[in-house]
Amino acid sequence: MVIHKTLLPFPDGFLWGAASAAYQIEGSWDKDGKGVSNWDQFVRIPGKTFKGTTGDVAVDHYNRYKEDVQLMAEMGMKAYRFSVAWTRIFPSGKGQVNEKGLEFYDRLIDELKANNIEPVLTLYHWDLPQNLQDEYGGWESRQIVEDFTNYSVELFKRFGDRVKYWVSLNEQNIFTMFGYRMAAHPPGVKDDKLFYQVNHHANLANASVIKEFRKYVPDGKIGPSFAYSPAYALTSKPGDILAAEAAEELNNHWWMDVYAWGKYPKAAWNYLEQNGLAPTIEEGDFELLRAGTPDFMGLNYYQTTTYEENPLVGGVGAGEMNTTGKKGTSKDTGIPGMFKTVENPNLERTDWDWNIDPQGLRIALRRITNRYHLPILISENGLGAFDKVEEGDIVNDDYRIDFIRAHIKAIQEAITDGVEMLGYCVWSFTDLLSWLNGFQKRYGFVYVNQHEEGEHDLRRIKKKSFYWYKEVIETNGENLS
Ligand code: BG6
Repeated sequence: MVIHKTLLPFPDGFLWGAASAAYQIEGSWDKDGKGVSNWDQFVRIPGKTFKGTTGDVAVDHYNRYKEDVQLMAEMGMKAYRFSVAWTRIFPSGKGQVNEKGLEFYDRLIDELKANNIEPVLTLYHWDLPQNLQDEYGGWESRQIVEDFTNYSVELFKRFGDRVKYWVSLNEQNIFTMFGYRMAAHPPGVKDDKLFYQVNHHANLANASVIKEFRKYVPDGKIGPSFAYSPAYALTSKPGDILAAEAAEELNNHWWMDVYAWGKYPKAAWNYLEQNGLAPTIEEGDFELLRAGTPDFMGLNYYQTTTYEENPLVGGVGAGEMNTTGKKGTSKDTGIPGMFKTVENPNLERTDWDWNIDPQGLRIALRRITNRYHLPILISENGLGAFDKVEEGDIVNDDYRIDFIRAHIKAIQEAITDGVEMLGYCVWSFTDLLSWLNGFQKRYGFVYVNQHEEGEHDLRRIKKKSFYWYKEVIETNGENLS
């Protein structure tokens, strides 16, 4: 059914949670033996981030993790997704282990467990050891497979007794696209051919760690988190439908097919080959990809994207992102002769021009289920907005409550459709640093008094959404009002 008469309840043990990433919350960027990451370096290049913001302090979670976990416990959170900073464990990406780095995550995990919060550990959320970038180009070299696997095995051995849910790579499609196509993230390169090669290495690394995981954490579950933006066609014109199908294949199946099946989709491969962009494959690559398939698909869902035809000659190319929060400043993007994005007249947008589309989440869940037959963990979903602290430390973020409520409803409809769901991690628990958008684009249930400029004492303030989500968790999703 598309319109259900009644909805199934959320399953018992559903992981109601929230998520974060090391660089965006921890701070203490050079403390206790931590090495320099690509982000530590990139943010220091003038003009790269909003008002020059950095994660040097971020929201100081490294020092305040106990307070943050207490807030999670107060909310009754069942799961917390966080990432490990590779440079805390191996300051130069490989070689000597930094015990102090491991100890920090030991403490965090123990604190979570003591409060009955299931840790969901992400191995890689974009902060690559700068040394590996300098030495061999990081993801540009196959050497990354070995180093990423060694680092991951170290974590499996240390935390595998306490951590059962693991995310391998966070949004491979985004970090490679921003890093190698748009030059908006480190290493700031625009090279389409390299982009596909880098992705092939990341696919191999992903499969390699999943393969190793089976040996060290046989009772655990692991999967990548994919930034899935389902493709819509603007109209029923066959040309638009074809454009949307091509986008779904090149922008989504290109990654998810490899994760789930260890193979690349056909038409997309042919297109890349004809244009000299296909990655170089070596003997044994596909065996490895097939040997390292996940237990679940991690889904980071924020929005859908709508497409239309794009002429080969004179078609739209690279667009522009809105990183200021001034509505309407983003520009459509496309590949001439393939597709181009276009505003969806049926959807509202956020101040950063992100479409608000809860039904799109149900569509995403159904498409993944029907194609891959894998359980799904929603590893991110949330609303980036300007929040205002009112007198008496009150944040009335009703817009966030509306957003999350509508998405939870969509999940329940998808469960009723037959989608197997493991949990829902809202992005984010506390406010944090938005890579390119500074601190003003806020996502958290907990406001953190941190700003680009001016006074910032980093104090934590529970937003209205905090109390609302607490009730949702308590009633296992029954009370959404
Ligand atoms: C995802 C990332 O892309 O979306 C997060 O995994 C990120 O790290 C989140 O912060 C929201 O994006 P943004 O650009 O609004 O911070």
